[in-house]
Amino acid sequence: MAEVIIVENKEAAGALVAAEIVALIDGRPDAVLGLATGSTPLPVYEALRPLVADRDVSQVRGFALDEYVGIDPAHPESYRSVITREVVEPLGLDPQRIHVPNGAEETIPHAGEDYEQAIAAAGGVDLQILGIGTDGHIGFNEPGSSFASRTRVKTLTEQTRIDNARFFDSIDDVPMHCITQGLGTILAARHLVLLAFGESKAAAVAAAVEGPLSASLPGSAIQLHPHATVVVDEAAASQLAQADYYRYTFANKPAWQGI
Ligand code: PGA
Repeated sequence: MAEVIIVENKEAAGALVAAEIVALIDGRPDAVLGLATGSTPLPVYEALRPLVADRDVSQVRGFALDEYVGIDPAHPESYRSVITREVVEPLGLDPQRIHVPNGAEETIPHAGEDYEQAIAAAGGVDLQILGIGTDGHIGFNEPGSSFASRTRVKTLTEQTRIDNARFFDSIDDVPMHCITQGLGTILAARHLVLLAFGESKAAAVAAAVEGPLSASLPGSAIQLHPHATVVVDEAAASQLAQADYYRYTFANKPAWQGI
């Protein structure tokens, strides 16, 4: 199962995951990072800034999880813009090496396959950062997504559009469709790191980590992965039946193990 690490706050989570990413880059300067958007991964990117300041990260490669369909890439809330603003520029990554699925309507018929080929050409993703939606989605794999799915177009649920309306002027401006790495794509990454903070994520986290495997709760796919790490604050951990065991395990974790 996934290793669950319960931390005091977002900053502690960011520091923990950023240290793992830096160790990866130190061992492999052209490491391939799987990048997530949304509020959840921001503490990781913030914690990375001082750590990469004195490192050469010009070779680091990255693949975003998803993009809205039909949004102008220059729109401030396109995931291309978000990744550029929150990850590429502050960390000093090479924009040519950072990929985001192409949401242009005219190329949609082959955009998923193109993205899969680009990930394969890079040798796959080393460490995939994940958030989880209140409906249990990872990436934009909404409930019902096949565990074998690859990068493709999905229709956003009404709940996801409501959740993301805060980034737009109104819910009507939130795109209806997206292109997202599939659950099968995500499961092919070598290390999954799922983060979640706050009470609103507690039910989704408990279902993903301890519930039955189900396409109805896409986050439960992480149970199929041989190296999945879940980093949560106390509020997001509040519905985990085995929380005490996770704390005990982490407290007794060998120093050599890493996350
Ligand atoms: P959030 O979104 O990080 O903004 O809460 C997570 C998600 O929808 O996957």
